[in-house]
Amino acid sequence: MSIEKIHDWPKEKPIIEIRDLVVTYQDTLALYGINLDIYPGEIIGICGPNGAGKTTLLKAILGLVKPYRGTIKVYGHPIETKGNLFKKQYFQIGYVPQLKAIDKNFPALVKDVVMMGRYPKIGLFKRPNKKDWEIVDEALKAIDMYYMRNRPIGHLSGGQQQKVFIARALALEPSILLLDEPTAALDFRMTASIMQLLRKLRDEKHMTIVSIHHDLRLLKENSTRIVCLNKSIVWTGPPDDPELDNVLRKVYPLPTI
Ligand SMILES: Nc1ncnc2c1ncn2[C@@H]1O[C@H](COP(=O)(O)OP(=O)(O)O)[C@@H](O)[C@H]1O
Ligand SMILES: [Mg+2]
Repeated sequence: MSIEKIHDWPKEKPIIEIRDLVVTYQDTLALYGINLDIYPGEIIGICGPNGAGKTTLLKAILGLVKPYRGTIKVYGHPIETKGNLFKKQYFQIGYVPQLKAIDKNFPALVKDVVMMGRYPKIGLFKRPNKKDWEIVDEALKAIDMYYMRNRPIGHLSGGQQQKVFIARALALEPSILLLDEPTAALDFRMTASIMQLLRKLRDEKHMTIVSIHHDLRLLKENSTRIVCLNKSIVWTGPPDDPELDNVLRKVYPLPTI
């Protein structure tokens, strides 16, 4: 689907449609009975305890895990789940995976890591052109990491690496952004600036955002809708719904000492 068509996408039509989704890993049931419509311009905040299937849900939308049952459509088209290096949905969806430690000798420079995010648009065997590098620079500037562009990624702190991975997702110029605990490695100030950036991307670039957070205050203050997950959808509604606190108390039981 062309970009022009996506800009014309009607507000009342979901851009992600999930129907009766079940995902299993060998003998683990990770998700079941998931029905979820995500509309243009939503900032969906996903919460739920460890092992609730939050990461699996993002991977399912990307087609990185194959549903046991159910369907997922993005812009009205069923997603591709088979081998293909450049699945159809990769052209529209930017993904910021949960941060993993990077070897400090990992040879790529920051700017090259961010350029990797553009490969679905460039093609694997073509060289990036001037415009591609401009987009990479812009993505790095958006997260205040332009001055680090020529550093090896492995020399950066966890928080700085996390910002680079956000830039990598932005370099695709996606219309949908999926983020898996994007602020987990960031300090208070960086967290605030990333949350502000997400709002800006939604307001100015009309992006639709799905983001997993453990910090419940952050979740409430920065989402237009909250989805509580515990293998199935326990609750979904606006962040100011008075019912939410009860739901959260049930989903995140207090630790017993
Ligand atoms: N690659 C995998 N192989 C086997 N089990 C997995 C795999 N990935 C996740 N799981 C299991 O699926 C469940 C959901 O995991 P996950 O989606 O990572 O949850 P969350 O992100 O909410 O912590 C967990 O029980 C986890 O152990
Ligand atoms: Mg996870």
